[in-house]
Amino acid sequence: MKVIRVENLSFRYRRARRYSLREVSFEVKRGELLGIIGPSGSGKSTLCLTLNGIIPGSIKGEFSGDVVVRDPATGEEYNTREVPVSKLSTLVGLVLQNPESQLFNMTVEEEVAFGLENLGLERDEILRRIQWALEVTGLRGLEKEFPPGLSGGEKQRLAIASILAMKPEVLVLDEPTSQLDPVGRREVLGVVSLLKKEHGITVILVDHNTDYILRHADRVLVMKEGRVILEGTPRELAEEVETLKELGVKLPPSLEISHELRKRGIVKTPALTEEELLSLIGSP
Ligand SMILES: Nc1ncnc2c1ncn2[C@@H]1O[C@H](COP(=O)(O)OP(=O)(O)O)[C@@H](O)[C@H]1O
Ligand SMILES: [Mg+2]
Repeated sequence: MKVIRVENLSFRYRRARRYSLREVSFEVKRGELLGIIGPSGSGKSTLCLTLNGIIPGSIKGEFSGDVVVRDPATGEEYNTREVPVSKLSTLVGLVLQNPESQLFNMTVEEEVAFGLENLGLERDEILRRIQWALEVTGLRGLEKEFPPGLSGGEKQRLAIASILAMKPEVLVLDEPTSQLDPVGRREVLGVVSLLKKEHGITVILVDHNTDYILRHADRVLVMKEGRVILEGTPRELAEEVETLKELGVKLPPSLEISHELRKRGIVKTPALTEEELLSLIGSP
C-alpha cells in the first residue's frame, strides 16, 4: 500500500533561475525505508519540503505536478496543494538537518510535549506519547535536561522524538547525521533502524553518506540536478557504481573495493558490506 505518491513534480523557488526539482515521480510504500542520495544541491532538501506541503504551502514558487499523501487509517488522500501543512504534518513528520533550529523549550519533556499540546490531545495521552517517544529514541532519564546542553546525537534524537510523538505515518529525515560525530551518527541511525524494524514506521532518509542506506534501505532514489536519475534496491544500485562515482556520492569501501576487483575479474558480484566482501574473496 502506498502512503505517498509524487507525480511529475517540478519546482522553482521564487526568483531562482533554475528549477530545483524536475519531473520527479516516485511512490513510497507503507512501512518501507526509502533512502535518498545525491550530491549537494541536487534537490534532496527541496523534495523533503514538498512531502509535508511546506512547499508549496509556505514556501512559494513555480510548482507543478502532484504530491498526494494517503492516510492509511481512513484511506483518504490529500493533495499537498489543497491541504494545509497543519493537517499534512500529522501524517508526514519532517526532521530538519540542524536539530538546533527545531529545539526551543526549557526541558527535554517540554520539547516533546510542545507539538502534542497543539494537537488537542488529553493530558494522559500526551504523557504516554512523551514517554513512548523518549523510550524509542533512547532518551528516557533525560526528561528534565536543558536541550542545548545535550550532545549532538541527543539533540538530533530529541528532534526526532518531538516529531515522532505526533505519530506521523511517515517520518522524513533530512541528513539527520551530517552535523554529528561518529558516535552521534551511530545513535541516530540506531533509532532509524528501530523505528523501521520494531515500529513499522515508514521512513524516508536523506544521507550523503551511503553506507547505512545501501545496507538498510528497501529502496533508494538517486538525485542529480533536481531529477531522480536512478531508483532501485541497494542490490540494483550496486550495479551502478560508475554512475554513483561520477556523481561524487561517497560509497562504502566494500562496494568500491569489490567494484575494482570485479573489473579485474577477481570477484563476480558487488559487495554492499564488509562481511559480503570477505565472503566473496574467501577470508582465510
Ligand atoms: N530557498 C531557496 N531559494 C532559492 N534557491 C534555493 C533555495 N533552497 C535551495 N535552493 C536551490 O535549489 C537547489 C537544490 O537545493 P537543495 O534542495 O538544498 O539540495 P540538496 O538538499 O540536495 O543539497 C540548489 O540549486 C539550491 O541552490
Ligand atoms: Mg540538503
